[in-house]
Amino acid sequence: MEKVRVALSSDFVLPDGKPAFPSFDLAALDADPRIDWGYVPVRDGRIAAADMAGVDALILLAGRFDAGSFPRDDKLALVARFGVGYDNVDVRACSANDVALVITPSGVRRPVAVAIMTFVLALSGNLLVKDRLTRAGPEGWARRGGHMGIGLVGRTLGSVGMGNIGAELFRMAAPFGMSFVAHDPLADPAVARELGVELVSLDDVFRRSDFVCVNCPLSDETRGLVNAARLALMKPTAFLINTARGPIVDQAALTAALTEGRIAGAGLDVFEREPSDASDPLFRLENVIVTPHSLCWTDQCFADIGAADIRAVQAVIDGHVPEGIVNRDITGNERWLAKLAGYRP
Ligand SMILES: NC(=O)c1ccc[n+]([C@@H]2O[C@H](COP(=O)([O-])OP(=O)(O)OC[C@H]3O[C@@H](n4cnc5c(N)ncnc54)[C@H](O)[C@@H]3O)[C@@H](O)[C@H]2O)c1
Repeated sequence: MEKVRVALSSDFVLPDGKPAFPSFDLAALDADPRIDWGYVPVRDGRIAAADMAGVDALILLAGRFDAGSFPRDDKLALVARFGVGYDNVDVRACSANDVALVITPSGVRRPVAVAIMTFVLALSGNLLVKDRLTRAGPEGWARRGGHMGIGLVGRTLGSVGMGNIGAELFRMAAPFGMSFVAHDPLADPAVARELGVELVSLDDVFRRSDFVCVNCPLSDETRGLVNAARLALMKPTAFLINTARGPIVDQAALTAALTEGRIAGAGLDVFEREPSDASDPLFRLENVIVTPHSLCWTDQCFADIGAADIRAVQAVIDGHVPEGIVNRDITGNERWLAKLAGYRP
């Protein structure tokens, strides 16, 4: 039987030949006798149709996959993005070319929730401030009483968005004895009940929370959602945590609120501009903890993302609909379903 051709974008290999993500275990591809796999070049930042000839499934890192990337042979059935963002893929062109696009929510769910809890614990315990006090010697130790942390029992953890990551955050925070509030226009009340989350208005998340966590996607609707007016609703003792996307927060308004002590602090993994500018006044503030859009990056995160992509490839060549489909319309597309059926023994 002809083998199924699986391609990985060449940006999975660093210029020195080493893997970009060593914990992405490719052994499952090697071990599958149905699969013949290799790399397709990313040239000038994108993948060209000519390099995709004969490929059944692509595992894609950062290279662009656009309307000009689809090969004419019409074999391609799957593009599996390594991660959950897909701004580098033309989704409509995928549907038009009878190709499913999948992402890997299961791979980031736990790691991003852990990253948010890391911010909650570090901010509530004044972790970075105390780190600096200790390094300052006796003079720093003498000042430790002025940096009391806050306990979490009975405090309110709030989330803007209760999807994949927001729900996992509440699951993970359950033993801390906090109250939970969330706003999500698509929230399932049954899930909220099960997680012990009170669904409230967007403004009430800001009013009531001791920690406001941003867990919604960036869209026209959510751009600038955390603006000066919403920050003004927050308690002066509350913290803002953004691990979603930078432009959801008006960074200048946040910097002003933090500088003037109108809120207690912030934990930020994402920024309006990335990479961020070292001279941004935000980075001179003591009540802010920042990480370069990578707090969730761990060996297990990348291992799980890679494993989810390989599972999607294997689902397709078993003739099944894979998990994590972005272009849901594809599941009603007869030509794509015929591609799936063609893989079945
Ligand atoms: N920092 C990182 O490394 C990292 C990694 C993965 C994901 N993310 C980001 O985390 C965010 C959440 O990801 P997810 O996997 O949970 O996505 P998801 O799609 O599963 O959940 C997002 C939820 O937000 C809700 N939502 C949409 N508009 C809203 C609004 N106006 N107000 C309130 N809720 C709204 C949706 O209904 C959905 O339930 C995304 O922005 C994603 O890009 C960041």
